[in-house]
Amino acid sequence: MPSIHQRQQLQQQHQQHQQHLLSDSYPISPRSSPNWGRSISVFGRTGLFVLLTLVVVLGVVLPGMRAPDGLFGGSKVSVSKWREYTLEEAVPFAAKNGTLIVCAVSQPYLPFLNNWLISISRQNHQDKVLVIAEDYATLYAVNGRWPGHAVLVPPAPDAQVAHKFGSQGFFNFTSRRPRHLLYILELGYNVMYNDVDMVWLADPFPYLQGDHDVYFTDDMTAVKPLNHSHDLPSPGKKGRTYICSCMIFMRPTDGAKLVMEEWIEELQAQPWSNAKKSNDQPAFNWALNRTAAQVDLYLLPQVAFPTGGLYFKNQTWVQETKGLHVIIHNNYITGFEKKIKRFHDFGLWLVDDYALESLLGRI
Ligand SMILES: *[C@@H]1O[C@H](CO)[C@@H](O)[C@H](O)[C@H]1NC(C)=O
Ligand SMILES: *[C@@H]1O[C@H](CO)[C@@H](O)[C@H](O)[C@H]1NC(C)=O
Ligand SMILES: *[C@@H]1O[C@H](CO)[C@@H](O)[C@H](O)[C@H]1NC(C)=O
Ligand SMILES: *[C@@H]1O[C@H](CO)[C@@H](O)[C@H](O)[C@H]1NC(C)=O
Ligand SMILES: *[C@@H]1O[C@H](CO)[C@@H](O)[C@H](O)[C@H]1NC(C)=O
Repeated sequence: MPSIHQRQQLQQQHQQHQQHLLSDSYPISPRSSPNWGRSISVFGRTGLFVLLTLVVVLGVVLPGMRAPDGLFGGSKVSVSKWREYTLEEAVPFAAKNGTLIVCAVSQPYLPFLNNWLISISRQNHQDKVLVIAEDYATLYAVNGRWPGHAVLVPPAPDAQVAHKFGSQGFFNFTSRRPRHLLYILELGYNVMYNDVDMVWLADPFPYLQGDHDVYFTDDMTAVKPLNHSHDLPSPGKKGRTYICSCMIFMRPTDGAKLVMEEWIEELQAQPWSNAKKSNDQPAFNWALNRTAAQVDLYLLPQVAFPTGGLYFKNQTWVQETKGLHVIIHNNYITGFEKKIKRFHDFGLWLVDDYALESLLGRI
């Protein structure tokens, strides 16, 4: 058995190799290359087949480059297949009725992914979930158990630096989200994005009323009246709103695409700095601020989609509003173990007792 360290090294080498092979083969931003749709179809099935074959052959001839067996629970051939699986293929496969639910996950978050998936299965929406894997281990772990429901958009960020909240690695990792979401909108699908430190207690879809472009939730902890407005709230102390980038639903409209484009631009205009240690949320809020006049925005009800800063900290409110909560977000806390413990304490850590309800099983 290779040690964990050796396995991580292998995995890294493997990813670097993949990055080298695949860099520039996939335009991350559709805007930077207006003809991306056409060039992919010109490339076509034959090209894809040749490439697939090449990768399989390479994998057989140069076993040193292969991922360690057993780690990903898939055969070599299927492992090669998922490496080449694109968002353009994965989205129509996973979407149901024109709608897709996506999350973005790296390997350490697999238990949270499983927890979230169990809660979605209980609402019978698991079939339309697509996991955007942020590393190859996650890609193989999910597709090995649930084929076709994970995709990796290369290059994979460096696993060692991508996890720490507030770090540049974390910023780089989350900065990719608006690009993925824009791409899905360009393909013509409704898309719901969720962070995986969430749990569904009820079906959110009935709350996506009307024909608005973008639906989102407030991250402010102050209790609002049940009949609060669905408009973008007024800016807070820092001159901007505190809308959560953790749960977003969009229709494939020009308005929603514009918000994603502005979000990408904001992230580029205000990159991560050691002084600010920002994440992707402020940029999302500035994007909403800048597009509010042209785009039909919809603030979801606080009682159904409370921030973790309210749900986990005000038991009076939780009791008063019992039965009205839809999605719970385990935020306003940092640290892996702390998040798990809090879910546990509130009866929302489902993976220990209900793993069989997940399509991934025990992971
Ligand atoms: C399919 O989508 C339409 C419009 O988005 C919706 O009205 C309908 O209820 C959906 N059907 C199912 C089976 O989910
Ligand atoms: C984050 O991205 C920037 C710009 O692309 C790059 O210079 C930097 O090395 C990346 N940092 C980490 C920790 O990933
Ligand atoms: C909410 O209800 C209160 C009391 O019935 C009313 O005064 C207020 O205008 C309502 N607010 C909105 C946004 O409808
Ligand atoms: C956008 O932000 C500016 C600066 O904080 C603020 O004055 C303005 O009211 C905001 N616009 C909207 C639509 O929220
Ligand atoms: C907690 O919730 C109660 C009931 O909704 C509310 O009156 C109170 O202001 C909240 N406390 C804080 C600290 O927000």
